[in-house]
Amino acid sequence: MAVTLTINGQTIQATGGRSLFDHAEALGIDVPTSCRKQGKCKECMVEVVEGMDALSAIAEPERHLKGSFRLSCQTYVTAAEGHVRCHTMRRGHMIIERHAFGLPVGNDALKLDPAVTRDGDRILIDGIEVERSTGPILGIAVDLGTTTIVLRLVDLESGELIADTSFENPQRFGGSEVMSRIAYDTEHPGRLLMRTLAGYLTHAIEKFPVDPKTIYEMVVVGNSTMRDLFFRQSVYSIGQNPYRSITEIEMAEGKRATTSLSQSGLHSLLPIHPKARVYGAPIVSGHVGADAAACMLAVDLAHEERLVAVMDIGTNTELIVGNRHRILAASCPAGPAFEGGAIACGMPALDGAIESVAIDDAEKFQLGVIGDVPPEGICGSGLVDVLSELLRTGRMNEMGRFADDIKRVTLYHDEDTEVFLLESDVNELAQAKGANVAGLHAVFSSYGIDFDQIEVFYLAGGFGRHLNVEASKRIGLVPSLASTKIVQAGNTAIEGATIALLSKSKRQELEGLVKRVQHCRLETHPEFFNFFVEGCQFKPVETIPCAS
Ligand code: FES
Repeated sequence: MAVTLTINGQTIQATGGRSLFDHAEALGIDVPTSCRKQGKCKECMVEVVEGMDALSAIAEPERHLKGSFRLSCQTYVTAAEGHVRCHTMRRGHMIIERHAFGLPVGNDALKLDPAVTRDGDRILIDGIEVERSTGPILGIAVDLGTTTIVLRLVDLESGELIADTSFENPQRFGGSEVMSRIAYDTEHPGRLLMRTLAGYLTHAIEKFPVDPKTIYEMVVVGNSTMRDLFFRQSVYSIGQNPYRSITEIEMAEGKRATTSLSQSGLHSLLPIHPKARVYGAPIVSGHVGADAAACMLAVDLAHEERLVAVMDIGTNTELIVGNRHRILAASCPAGPAFEGGAIACGMPALDGAIESVAIDDAEKFQLGVIGDVPPEGICGSGLVDVLSELLRTGRMNEMGRFADDIKRVTLYHDEDTEVFLLESDVNELAQAKGANVAGLHAVFSSYGIDFDQIEVFYLAGGFGRHLNVEASKRIGLVPSLASTKIVQAGNTAIEGATIALLSKSKRQELEGLVKRVQHCRLETHPEFFNFFVEGCQFKPVETIPCAS
């Protein structure tokens, strides 16, 4: 059989009778599993990017998967020739920052005040004994992103960061953005999304260099859908106008005092201490979730006098504007384009991703590639750069049309690989940008201010940390502010989750803060559609119509 099989960038000649999982093992690739190829755990997923036709028919255990996802233990190469390219959910190699940058509250300045304490050999949560041990007292902060999951393991007595890891959200088989995940969860009984994520979280926790049973508390943040799926809440209502979490509805009905959630380690299906507390930080409102709340804690909005903005660009972009006196927040359903999703050669910021692009005087592409290896694809910061350079050199116009009637720009090619940008990719990026910019205009106009009045503009998130600010300003992804006002802060959601993990009083502050935030519902803003159309164009974002 002359089928070449490429898994996670490594190639092998496929042999009959062996599953994709078997081939991956032969290549030394670690495939997540809890059932050893029995088709039961649903963890051994791969995303097939080429050669689906060369594979066996969908087997019964993988009927729950959508699109290009397969269970590697159930999938065999059946064609006589061809090329199959696939990858496991990426884990552990993503570039993440250990700390946020340029924030007013860092862990160093934080007064440690954890909920888990020690009294001799007694380990207590809020004063109630949960264990007798002289071992370490550890906690985990988790940011459940639509596309990426980030974990930090922290010593709760010293505040020291012990380890961190990240991986692609395996719930992608249920769709790339929150609305499809809500539809998937509603249509498929059995909490498949939650169970698959719990499996991946379990593997991540077991890989930490500690006994998982010494983990006594977890603080979980994420947008409303991601958080509620994790806590096994129904997410149906988040997908229906007026888009409210079940916790928000219950709070409005007086059935609960907060939108935060709590459950035991045992109930969470994770290998942490069974009596551990898993705390889901409160959400703000609608799709503005616990990740936005955590961002507010990270930038110390409760004590901020200056007028600041936070923009966390992602599949769901979070926008926050204000100070300690008044805060407005919104969530924009931008889609996964700037995270490499829905783009022909898009990929996360992993080894092999083109992360920076310049066009030199000889009109050649100069590429920066993560990991100093041949390019395999292009990640978000590379996409921003290539759009900016095509615009700067006149090879693309403001409407996103390529010059000379071409439909495809090749950035790199060798014998096996071509990395290119299609005009249809540009269209996807234009729409993602349009949603982000429309959100900015809507929030600022609702607040009644101009971009120039902002004193600090935090670009949050891993993508916000790595993008080229000047290129982003040129294509109009961020406003044309003085560069001195823009702080590329890194992952403020995980930073806020860590702060809440280490400090009861900060957690209390967060509970109070979310109740003071005014939710800007973008879908009801009268100018939103006009803002969106304007925002789809690749040009600087400079002015906004003010509502007041
Ligand atoms: S290894 Fe468990 S489903 Fe494939």
